Amino acid sequence: MIDLATFKERFELLYEQSPRVFSAPGRVNLIGEHTDYNDGFVLPIAIERRTFVAGARRPDARVIVRSLTLEQTVEFDLFQPGPPQRGSWLDYVEGTARALLERGFALSGANLLIHSDVPAGAGLSASAALELSVGYALAALGGAADPDRLQLALAGQSAEHHYVGTRCGIMDQYICALALADHALKIDCRSLAYEPISLRLASACVLICDTRVKHELCTSAYNERREQCEAGVREIARQKPTVRALRDLSPTEFEALSPRLPALIARRCRHVVDENARTLAAARALESGNLAQLGELMSASHRSLRDDYEVSCPELDEAVAAVAAIPGVYGSRMTGGGFGGCTVSVLEREVVPRAIHAISERLRTRFQIEPRFFSTNAGVGVCEMPANA
Ligand code: GLA
Repeated sequence: MIDLATFKERFELLYEQSPRVFSAPGRVNLIGEHTDYNDGFVLPIAIERRTFVAGARRPDARVIVRSLTLEQTVEFDLFQPGPPQRGSWLDYVEGTARALLERGFALSGANLLIHSDVPAGAGLSASAALELSVGYALAALGGAADPDRLQLALAGQSAEHHYVGTRCGIMDQYICALALADHALKIDCRSLAYEPISLRLASACVLICDTRVKHELCTSAYNERREQCEAGVREIARQKPTVRALRDLSPTEFEALSPRLPALIARRCRHVVDENARTLAAARALESGNLAQLGELMSASHRSLRDDYEVSCPELDEAVAAVAAIPGVYGSRMTGGGFGGCTVSVLEREVVPRAIHAISERLRTRFQIEPRFFSTNAGVGVCEMPANA
């Protein structure tokens, strides 16, 4: 975690102004993967790692953004849109600003300085943390006393769709915007309402393993999965016109309809339909402190992502398999979009060293990988840091 006094000093040295400081978290999803863009349910928490933005207004319409983490500066003009998809982090920042303007936020030019503790490319939503922290900063500096968090989340998603080129769902931006300490949010990605679920883990904890693997197919495979789900819905709707999304089907209803789908599309859709049911069951299990059941659902989610949705990879599978037989490990699964990134496990705190050792051994031996680990509580969503922090 960065020392905020030093961070503000860096800003003052760079821009000769005194800043306000904002921050947004990364996230980890406990269960409900690839369900958000199918109008379904997800159960993420904000992690305790955050992206910090120091900012002050400028008298003109320019937004100058310096990243301490990347040691790069980008800039754009609020009223002269640059082209999308430049393949740089400017896409996230400018895309968010544009989406905020379209949503009627009053923005002014700004000087911004960024520092992030959220590892980039690890599947922990460093990009949503960037969109939300910058979006909140620009909205607040533009005069909004308490920017509407749902609108900020939708602006971040719009940046992904229109500037970055990923047709992502709303989960990442939503949890980064609205997360509550010590709670997971059960988000209904159709109504965009949420229910806070207390993270009742007693002597257990959430352990994240970053495999440090990033497979290149990510964006294209992600968009392809989304299209396959849409193709499934189109076919199903011919027989059952009330179905607008895979969310509208129970596992039993789906099994009756699935023989009419091409085999690959049926497998993709089956994952989503079953995952929705698992997510609702997992929220109930967490609420009642039934970690054994939560863990079983997480492990079933991994198998489905691996076999039916095919978004896992050998490194993630190995990390999950490494802890499967350790007593005190309730469940483990890949988390996020897939094709690399992280696993999330729920396990007794006392077996954490054993789990870390088991995963490290197996990834080192089979893939020559040194994974990174951290355990986390559920943190808060985007906010302004108190002036005396
Ligand atoms: C990425 C996307 C999310 C979601 C997950 C998979 O993180 O940004 O919208 O679809 O993948 O659950």
